[in-house]
Amino acid sequence: MPAVSKVCCIGAGYVGGPTCAVIALKCPHVQVTIVDLNQDRIDAWNSPDYKLPIYEPGLKDVVRQARGRNLFFSTNIDQAIQDADLIFVSVNTPTKKSGVGAGFAADLKYVESATRRIAKVATSNKIVVEKSTVPCRTAESMRTILEANSRPNCRFDILSNPEFLAEGTAISDLFNPDRVLIGSLQTPDGIAASNALRDIYANWVPTDRVLTVGLWSSELSKLAANAMLAQRISSINALSAICEATGANIDEVAHAIGYDSRIGPKFLRASVGFGGSCFQKDILNLVYLSRSLHLPEVADYWEQVVIMNEYQKRRFTKTVVDTLFNTITGKHIAVLGFAFKADTGDTRESPAITLVKDFLQEKALVNIYDPQVEREQIWADLAEAMPSVPSSDIQKQVHITSSALECCRNAEAVVIATEWREFREIDWELVYAGMNKPAFVFDGRLLVDAQKLRGIGFQVTVIGRGERL
Ligand SMILES: NC(=O)c1ccc[n+]([C@@H]2O[C@H](COP(=O)([O-])OP(=O)(O)OC[C@H]3O[C@@H](n4cnc5c(N)ncnc54)[C@H](O)[C@@H]3O)[C@@H](O)[C@H]2O)c1
Repeated sequence: MPAVSKVCCIGAGYVGGPTCAVIALKCPHVQVTIVDLNQDRIDAWNSPDYKLPIYEPGLKDVVRQARGRNLFFSTNIDQAIQDADLIFVSVNTPTKKSGVGAGFAADLKYVESATRRIAKVATSNKIVVEKSTVPCRTAESMRTILEANSRPNCRFDILSNPEFLAEGTAISDLFNPDRVLIGSLQTPDGIAASNALRDIYANWVPTDRVLTVGLWSSELSKLAANAMLAQRISSINALSAICEATGANIDEVAHAIGYDSRIGPKFLRASVGFGGSCFQKDILNLVYLSRSLHLPEVADYWEQVVIMNEYQKRRFTKTVVDTLFNTITGKHIAVLGFAFKADTGDTRESPAITLVKDFLQEKALVNIYDPQVEREQIWADLAEAMPSVPSSDIQKQVHITSSALECCRNAEAVVIATEWREFREIDWELVYAGMNKPAFVFDGRLLVDAQKLRGIGFQVTVIGRGERL
């Protein structure tokens, strides 16, 4: 199989954009074209002042170096498909909202329409790579669609190459991945296609970090990795509830158990709950897969990870209400952070959305500040979370501010919902001076120095700590 010289990526989102921008940077001899149906998104990727559609530390530098050289962003999908030797399919695979499997199964309509488009317009052989996270055996459906709709003499090899980057650290994850996983059919053609993709990564990833496996193992490994990661968060959050009830400290517990080399220290930070576009969706997908395979005990086991996450969010809201003398009606709550984690502007499944929704239902007045999330996004998320409440009513109760200080002014309570570094460095004395008293801080991210804040005069409640002084 000849070496790949032209790559196309269908889907210019949080995965397709950074992943293929890094491929372009690291492989100057390969022409990379990232395409999308969304003209606004492509315009933003092409914007002269690099106002890119997603925020990711280091991303601008990568795009600045490669764009116009061997990296292109376009809505001309057909042309990019025709030109490419290798096509990444990196479209969204959200949870289905209706029909069979609603609430659990992955909605594969975008994967299917991208696949049909490839079949329709391709005039030469292609390697088609599943980059999207998909249920086990999706590659088989893709192959069936491609073979049934393609022109004669057009051959397609399908690979699975799930993406393990984490938002917020996407560029360093891509530069230095723990591993790259490539799944293929174990036929001579499948292995040749897998080698062609491996050769692209070999431009910067050590060969022992590129794992080649069977297609179905590759697809399942991505769901399994996210399920195990989310399970760790729900496990530590479940323990945080016990800490609060007993007077133990979740930081100390995490530290102690993390010293066990079989457990390890990472991903043991208690919080108000996990968010993001992937963890919940991928676990629900695994639950659905397990139920479809008549494995109800397996399905229930994984579903509990999501149930625990919901419980953690509700538990946090209840703590806020209980602590503020059992009512927050008419009180001002300052919510610091709206993104699902620090260093991203992504709000998909952000715990902050649930918290704000709960506070609004308790008839509180909510101020919100996030350093990266656009105002329109916050309004859109709240409207989606409360479809039966008119936007004008939401806007009467919510005020979006341009700084943390402004957010906290005249508030009764500050709720830390995202672990942005700048919240640790706020001038808390100034915040305290501007707040109504008693002034409360609820730290949902184990971010602040609680003792210091108590010294200033705050009443501080931290997730996973029994003591409330
Ligand atoms: N976001 C993450 O951190 C992450 C990490 C690993 C894997 N994933 C997986 O990667 C996939 C993509 O995720 P994302 O966060 O980049 O999604 P996204 O919603 O940010 O981007 C997907 C893009 O695909 C485009 N698209 C959809 N159908 C198309 C079509 N037929 N033709 C052209 N463009 C089309 C959309 O317009 C959108 O811009 C998902 O399956 C996700 O589960 C995401």
